[in-house]
Amino acid sequence: MSIVVPVHSEPADQAEPLLPRLAGIGFGGDYNPEQWPEQTWYDDVRLMREAGVNLVSVGIFAWALLEPSPGSYDFGWLDRVLELLHDADIAVDLATPTAAPPPWFFRRHPEARLVDRDGRVLGVGGRQAFCPSSPAYRAAAARITEQLAVRYAGHPALTLWHSHNEYGGVNAHCYCETSAEAFRAWLRRRYRHLDDLNDAWGTSFWGQQYGDWAEIEAPRVAPTVVNPAQQLDFLRFSSDTHLDNFVAERNILHRLSPGVPVTTNFMIANCKWIDYRRWAAEVDVVSNDHYLQAEQPDNHIELAMAADLTRSVADGRGWLLMEHSTSAVNWQPRNVAKQPGELRRNSMGHLARGAESALFFQWRASRSGAEKFHSAMLPHSGTATRVWREVCALGAELARLDELRGTQVVADVGVVWDWPSWWALELEWRPSVDLSYLERVSAFYEATWRGHLTADFVDAEADLSRYPILLVPSLYLTTAAAATNLAAYVRDGGTLVVSYFSGIVDENDTVHAGGHPGALRDLLGVTVEEFLPLREGERVSLDGGESGDVWAEHVVLDGAEAMRHYLDGPAAGGPAVTRHRVGNGTAWYISTRLTGDDLSVVLREAGLPHRDGLPENLEIVRRLGPAHGYLIAINHGDRDATLAVDGDELLTGARSSGEFVVPAGGVRVLRSQRARM
Ligand code: GAL
Repeated sequence: MSIVVPVHSEPADQAEPLLPRLAGIGFGGDYNPEQWPEQTWYDDVRLMREAGVNLVSVGIFAWALLEPSPGSYDFGWLDRVLELLHDADIAVDLATPTAAPPPWFFRRHPEARLVDRDGRVLGVGGRQAFCPSSPAYRAAAARITEQLAVRYAGHPALTLWHSHNEYGGVNAHCYCETSAEAFRAWLRRRYRHLDDLNDAWGTSFWGQQYGDWAEIEAPRVAPTVVNPAQQLDFLRFSSDTHLDNFVAERNILHRLSPGVPVTTNFMIANCKWIDYRRWAAEVDVVSNDHYLQAEQPDNHIELAMAADLTRSVADGRGWLLMEHSTSAVNWQPRNVAKQPGELRRNSMGHLARGAESALFFQWRASRSGAEKFHSAMLPHSGTATRVWREVCALGAELARLDELRGTQVVADVGVVWDWPSWWALELEWRPSVDLSYLERVSAFYEATWRGHLTADFVDAEADLSRYPILLVPSLYLTTAAAATNLAAYVRDGGTLVVSYFSGIVDENDTVHAGGHPGALRDLLGVTVEEFLPLREGERVSLDGGESGDVWAEHVVLDGAEAMRHYLDGPAAGGPAVTRHRVGNGTAWYISTRLTGDDLSVVLREAGLPHRDGLPENLEIVRRLGPAHGYLIAINHGDRDATLAVDGDELLTGARSSGEFVVPAGGVRVLRSQRARM
């Protein structure tokens, strides 16, 4: 098999280093020395050096040790840890420990406990058990953040601040009275006039008109469905509340520790409830945690999607992989261990797509506590293990990839991604319980991955002009501004492919007037007269040989032409896939759930490029720097693959004059001799 690496446009500018104080690609992980006797720290640092570790995150859950009782602090142990690390030339990503308030905090402030949607006050004894709107929590978090910032601002090991840990990870929403009050204040800022809120929420339905702000509650469990617009605003409010908490910490750190970047670790594509696009604008450096869905076949495709999404919210700049695992996690139903070589492929997969670090949870496996069965860089069995050997090998390899830092990933295709649309689509009482945002985005993404393409995820309201083709899976919530932008994109020559149940409602979950798919109806040149959800397991056949499930529609052409018809099912004889030429471009519509090859066939017909002749499981990503192009090839298959490309291979040091073998299960990073690649 061979590939001719395509010619790119102009070489890219080299971006500024992401972490000015870090010399290379970050390698290391969460380091929790507080779980170990002090003499172990010396072993840790020695072994870190052996493995090539240059960056560790410290103190993430250490609040109770740093502030053993309210207002009294013990930084002695942390001073010694930082000293040891610094002496060993290991940079520190110092955390604010605010994800795990100490037991004394909850005893003093029982009102700060999280209340779930059923109204239950949740217990403590884990982490993130606090209400994000709690003034007591905010004050305590600000105090410990200030203390840390004052003490360590000038520390030579300090390279990055790590605020909190996975905001909203397990406490995304709180329904206590304090939260309800904060929700009302948020609503007042958003709407100013109660009439406008009543309009936006459509409260004349079921007689819900509010006459006083004080009547509005957090959308707790109710006998039946609570107003979806209210729920949607509560989700926005909750994401914003966590963001406020981050911004408060970040501002303290900026003020007291100027010049040191601040990040917080995202859980992109896994934590549904945080609108990371809004968050990315507030962090100095985007960082992400990613864990494989261990039991899922081809789970490296989901990894690639998360990495592309992270780079995209970072606006194409580099980002940090803050956590992943060396092998199994401990919190999935069956925690499948990684196979030999998989750790390397996973780390390189993130790196290929813009990560400038490969960091893990965690450095040393814990003996106690909830995560003792989670893999680590240093397993319970120590250094005579496969995992340790693979960790050391990875550390050595990353040191050879420094020049990738600051180079830019080249994307072939844009995919629209929108958190509020995800939230809204999956509220109760949609036409089918089988509608899933992530399922549709993943299916479209998989088609790009299998075509050996790289995707950017974009906001439908952003500049889209750089993408010859744009995929729009399940954009249920489509604002008028997004619709106008998408229409301009097509008129100017773009190819748009939209899936069913897109363009349906506005930002208030109000159906766009005039028939579905409201906001996109003119652009797509179709009217959907009726949704025709399918029974469980029911399939419909199309006249191109494909078949769909879950969903069908009564589509009426209104300027578009039918590219496929339904052969059977509730829409038999009607259009299933349509094409509408608008200006210099084309807008396609797919009205049923196509997956796998069926979806790929239609997307290719619509103009999705694909690189033929490559083995199915070969992942390739291109990068551009000021002087060189790079091709990162990851072979997830069990047969060697050959690439027709010349250049230097950075991992092996080999030089090719025309052909490169990417061994089965292996990784190769090629630097082209030419400025263009
Ligand atoms: C992350 C979290 C870590 C650890 C890890 C285990 O979500 O940030 O602290 O719990 O999961 O996989």
